[in-house]
Amino acid sequence: MKEQLAKIRAEAISALESAKDAADLDALRVKYLGKKGELTGVLKMMGRLSPEERPVMGQLANDVRAALENALEACSQKLEAAALERRLRDEALDVTIPGKPVVLGHQHPMNIALEELKDIFIGMGFTVLEGPEVELASYNFDRLNAPEGHPSRDWSDTFYFDGDSRVMLRSQTSPMQVRAMETMDLPIRIIAPGRVYRKDEVDATHSPMFHQVEGMVIDKGVTMADLKGTLNTVVEQLYGAGAKTRFRPHHFPFTEPSCEMDVQCHKCGGAGCPTCKGEGWIELLGAGMVHPKVLEMSGIDSGTYTGWAFGIGLERMAMRRFKIADLRLIFENDVRFLEQF
Ligand code: PHE
Repeated sequence: MKEQLAKIRAEAISALESAKDAADLDALRVKYLGKKGELTGVLKMMGRLSPEERPVMGQLANDVRAALENALEACSQKLEAAALERRLRDEALDVTIPGKPVVLGHQHPMNIALEELKDIFIGMGFTVLEGPEVELASYNFDRLNAPEGHPSRDWSDTFYFDGDSRVMLRSQTSPMQVRAMETMDLPIRIIAPGRVYRKDEVDATHSPMFHQVEGMVIDKGVTMADLKGTLNTVVEQLYGAGAKTRFRPHHFPFTEPSCEMDVQCHKCGGAGCPTCKGEGWIELLGAGMVHPKVLEMSGIDSGTYTGWAFGIGLERMAMRRFKIADLRLIFENDVRFLEQF
């Protein structure tokens, strides 16, 4: 029996040495110390011993049990420490590994063009206004001197919301002239960028939604010379000192006299090419002196005050600025296009 105990002890200790994890340890614990384990098996035979031998063997068996329990505990601690060591090594963060590159977005070319334009006007003391895209026909037409039945109410091919044509998607940013006159103190210097809507078919130069930037100045003694001077300054800042402009007579119901302003083609320098459709010039905006009737309708004394206004087509400006050939590219949001700016 003594030999058996010694054998169990030796075997158990050597088996522990090759234990790899907690499961191995558990199996060994059951094998040697469990209810049906080897040590228990030996203890069950104690009854056969003589009364003198029994305490001696009992003591020995207890020593073996204690030794095995200690060994199991020590081994368990060793394995846990090793597991922790391994986790620390495996999960270590190498802060010297280069990070994943962050792809930064940037502004849409239309926003870049608008920001440039805003900066120029803010530098000249203008305030930037925003107004509703769903507009009342009274602001979009009536108070801009285009009363019921005026041809502009159909030639602008408007998106109306109701049967009697009182609510609409604004067809121009000019209603912001009226909204500014209505709410602001004189003198007024504003620009008002935003979306406008017309029932146009989509092609290289037309879209049912596009952007305008309205501008208006009202003060005492304001003349057409101020309009030309201001717009020429803007064009020079946008397109460089050599950029030439020309003003052609035109008609708008809310300005008198009215004009359109062209910029000399940047591609051919005025000789005529496909970009300017052979004209040598590219139309950029409509403008004019605010019609006295428009001033009066908004309660401004046209005997004391005069003003001018303009409406720039922002897509057109951006297309010239970035040499974009087709308007549709601006709205399609194809990243291969957008990445170029
Ligand atoms: N609203 C006009 C248009 O859409 C442009 C314009 C604005 C003309 C201001 C004169 C004064 O064509």
